[in-house]
Amino acid sequence: MSNAPDRIETLIGDITSLSVDAIVNAANTSLLGGGGVDGAIHRAAGPQLLEECRRLNGCEPGQAKITGGYDLSARHVIHTVGPIWQGGKNGEAEILTSCYETSLRLAAENACESIAFPAISTGVYGYPTDQAAEIATSTISRSLVDHLNIRSVILVAFSEENHRHLLAALGRAED
Ligand code: APR
Repeated sequence: MSNAPDRIETLIGDITSLSVDAIVNAANTSLLGGGGVDGAIHRAAGPQLLEECRRLNGCEPGQAKITGGYDLSARHVIHTVGPIWQGGKNGEAEILTSCYETSLRLAAENACESIAFPAISTGVYGYPTDQAAEIATSTISRSLVDHLNIRSVILVAFSEENHRHLLAALGRAED
């Protein structure tokens, strides 16, 4: 079994184009769509995604809920709600950590062998990308030990800066 860091990679691209078992959506508590990656995923998945989301009764920050992928290549969408950055003293790191943990657990419970994450909370929600990258890589590395059926985790960057932070954080995770 390859160890956790071997199962994590990062790339720059549009998460909606990836043919993986699950893509993670950086949603809001309503789960009724929005801008950023949330908007991109709903546009690519089509209206049936919103119809299913309406029946989920929202989602708490740090939690995650799973739906079908509809017109996406991905079989599932895992909707998680990241923290809104308020300076770092309001439990933001714990909530972001929980987003990655609960999304991976849901993926494992739904027989997903491959999962792609956007940089949760680093857009509209304002989380500093370097700190968010550290949380993403360390939480995923730690959690993969408990989810051996997850073979591949892709951290999708949408900017050069974010990609650099993810590469640096992955490099440290392997030390
Ligand atoms: N593919 C991959 N990553 C993307 C894409 C895409 N198509 N579009 C945007 N991103 C990146 C952003 O550049 C950012 O790095 O996703 C990251 C998360 O940014 P947001 O989408 O703004 O999400 P977040 O910061 O978690 O804020 C969530 O924004 O869209 C609303 O409904 C959403 O209210 C919620 C809030």
